[in-house]
Order: sequence, then structure tokens, then C-alpha cells
Amino acid sequence: MAPVLEMTGVTLRREDNTILRGVDWTVDSTDRWVVLGPNGAGKTTLITLAAARMHPTEGSVVVLGERLGEVDVQDLRIRVGLSSAALADAIPPQERVFDVVMTAAHGITGRWREEYDGIDEDRAAAVLAAFGMDGYRDREFWTLSEGERKRVQIARALMADPELLLLDEPAAGLDLGGREELLGALTELAGDRRSPAIVMVTHHVEEIPVGFTHALLLRDGDVVAAGPLAETLTSESLSETYGMPVTLTESGGRYSARRG
Ligand SMILES: Nc1ncnc2c1ncn2[C@@H]1O[C@H](COP(=O)(O)OP(=O)(O)O)[C@@H](O)[C@H]1O
Ligand SMILES: [Mg+2]
Repeated sequence: MAPVLEMTGVTLRREDNTILRGVDWTVDSTDRWVVLGPNGAGKTTLITLAAARMHPTEGSVVVLGERLGEVDVQDLRIRVGLSSAALADAIPPQERVFDVVMTAAHGITGRWREEYDGIDEDRAAAVLAAFGMDGYRDREFWTLSEGERKRVQIARALMADPELLLLDEPAAGLDLGGREELLGALTELAGDRRSPAIVMVTHHVEEIPVGFTHALLLRDGDVVAAGPLAETLTSESLSETYGMPVTLTESGGRYSARRG
């Protein structure tokens, strides 16, 4: 099968700042990638390109077989599920949870006068249930805890049955219980053959869900390493990525890292 995402020689510059430098990256339809790297490494920029919400300065980005710059990105964006802090900020606080998810069928935030049908409603109910949020459909978004909000955002990203799911720091700001609950749901998603290809950005190896298959390590706009998780995520590659000696340990498919 054709890859869902293919970046070749992708460089992104803003003013005299090079944010990404010569990135080559291929994501296949059954892959579950984690993208790791320090603050400012370019992770969000990489995800924004993959979501067809930005164009590269140089190189080629092919998303779901469509090369950016040659296609109507509006159609393409609907086929890519995205969850990010910027999108969460665009959700009207008083929006009902059910509508937060439903509006993704049209690629918008904030319910207005769109027509929805029973299929959309069934889909919204199913994705909310998959993240344990079916009991919250009438709650206003602002009343949710941070963990509940994160789960609703991922449900929203899955609403339009995307072929590629991009999660930018989905576990940020969660307490231990919230994180573990989210990781459980992501492990289930990762293990389901019907799920789309998944790319998840995180700062912490502790947040890599069991069942993820690949890793891309980014430092200051450069790819340090990319490939199958077991061979890519090592003490050596992490040390290079974070610019200090790091020891990585693994237990039962979960990782932890410390300096030293
Ligand atoms: N629109 C922009 N204009 C100029 N610099 C930017 C812009 N967007 C991001 N940057 C810079 O690019 C670098 C990478 O940002 P980002 O992709 O958000 O990193 P990360 O998500 O890994 O923390 C940062 O130094 C940031 O300040
Ligand atoms: Mg970021």
C-alpha cells in the first residue's frame, strides 16, 4: 500500500530561522509513530506540515497520495485527524461535548447551522465511547477536567474517520491517572487494525503507548534517528537528541528515561 505520508528533503524556514532541515520521513498505513525531541526541536511544525496546514520552504510533502501545493488542501484536511493545543484553544468554551466532536465532520469548530445526519450522530457517540466520554455528551467543554478535554479532542480528531491521526502532545498537563487512562485508550486504538496510521508527539518516553511501532527523534530541526521503535529508541539516540547523557529503560513495552 502507498504510504499515508511521505516527506522528502523537507526544509522549513521562517525569516532567518531554519525550523526543519532536510527531513525524509515515510509513514505507512499501519504505522504508529512517536515523535520525540526537546522544546523548540520542530515537532509541532512537522505535525502542522503533515496535517496539510503549512507548506515546506523546500522539498516535497505528500499526504494521502496528494502533494502539497498541487491540491485543494481543504479536502485533504478532512482526511487527516489532528489534535493540538492550538485547535483546542479554538473550541468555544460553552460548546457541548457532543458538538465539539460532531463539528469535526465538517472540519470546523463551533456549531452553527450545518446539517447533520444520523450517521454523524452514531459516529460521534462511538468515538466518545471509545475514549470513555459517552456520559459527558451534554456537558459544556469548559467544565471538563484537563484529562477529559484531551480525550474529547482525540475523539474529535477521529470523528471524520481519518486515514492519518496526528496527536500533538496529547498527554501534556495530565496527572498520573489521566495519563494512564489516555495511554490505555491509545494502546487500544493502536492495536485495532481498523485504526488509521497514528503519529503522536511527546516530550516524555513514559508517554509512549504500548503497541506503538516507530520513533522519530528530532533535535533542532534535524532528524537524529527514525525507524522501528526497538532499534531507534536507545540510550545513545536519546542522549544525542537531548544533548546530555540519558539512560533508557524498558519494561513491558513501557519506557522511562533519566539523566546519566
Ligand atoms: N511561525 C513561526 N515563525 C518563526 N519561528 C517559528 C514559527 N513557528 C515556530 N517557530 C520556531 O521554530 C522552532 C520550532 O518550533 P516548534 O515546531 O513549535 O517546536 P516544538 O513543537 O518541538 O517545541 C522554535 O524555535 C519556534 O520558536
Ligand atoms: Mg510543540
